Amino acid sequence: MENKIRKIGVFTSGGDAPGMNAAIRAVVRACTYYKKDCFGIVRGYEGMIDGDIVKLGARSVGNIIQRGGTILKSARSQTFRTPEGRSKAYENIRREGIDALVAIGGDGTFTGLHKFYEEFKIPSICIPGTIDNDLPGTDYTIGYDTATNTAVEAIDRIRDTMLSHNRLFFVEVMGRNSGYIAINSGIAGGATAVILPEEDMTFDDLYNILGADKETSKKSNLVVVAEGSKIGDANTLARKVAERSSYFDIKVTILGHLQRGGSPTYFDRVLASRMGIAAVEGLLQGKYDVMVGIKDNKMVYNDFTLIMTNKHEIDSESLRIAKILSI
Ligand code: F6P
Repeated sequence: MENKIRKIGVFTSGGDAPGMNAAIRAVVRACTYYKKDCFGIVRGYEGMIDGDIVKLGARSVGNIIQRGGTILKSARSQTFRTPEGRSKAYENIRREGIDALVAIGGDGTFTGLHKFYEEFKIPSICIPGTIDNDLPGTDYTIGYDTATNTAVEAIDRIRDTMLSHNRLFFVEVMGRNSGYIAINSGIAGGATAVILPEEDMTFDDLYNILGADKETSKKSNLVVVAEGSKIGDANTLARKVAERSSYFDIKVTILGHLQRGGSPTYFDRVLASRMGIAAVEGLLQGKYDVMVGIKDNKMVYNDFTLIMTNKHEIDSESLRIAKILSI
């Protein structure tokens, strides 16, 4: 693959996700394979602004494929939103001779990269790395599989104590405005109900599913609540059920950031490895201002506008399955 690009900068940005290290490793090794220099930009756009840039070689990414988090660290940069911040970042990039960028992150990361591309025309490509699986143009984002498995494992453990005490548990999972982690951890964890941002379930619907007004209803129930729930978070829902009925012994668990850490699953490692290589190959083929994705198990490149004007919808089949199983 002949191309003018000589030096590629890679960075992680936004919320970290298990598998980001595997993606960094793949980018660096693909650079080595195609005889390009690779530089790691530390702390995402913040490091770009501060000039925190290190040379990476094939050996410097050894023994990281199995590690959660990101060796390059991550940040959500406010300064990069300003023209001054982006100019400073560009100066640092040019000083190092970096002539192309690979960003690993979510929609905020891609938005920043798009702006940077528009202003400075530096060849750029984005790899979707977020536990939320909220990006269109890809069936899966890096980290989503691991985070969902972590949520399922936690739900299994909660289920043990829930059954021992005949309790109603509200378990809140992450996902920002997306219900992907919730729907699939709910199905896999045998939830009585799943509360999603994408669905118009009312509090009364939930109350009826639980059947709190019938003395014969089962007392052990696990409700998975997506953090973007429109009818209230786990604590609110627990309080509202308790206000209406004393039938249940109610507990709440918020899984929070434990879903972001941990060793990536085989799926996330392979996905990240494929996407890392696809990103470098995309740049070398002149595919700029795009996001790598996986569709029907094939690597694809998506335009920025396609990503920003669409949503990654939860498929109706998953919703149907969750409903049938909660009977
Ligand atoms: O985007 C990943 C995510 O973990 C979301 O699920 C969550 O809403 C958010 O990041 C939390 O962000 P922070 O780590 O900055 O609190």
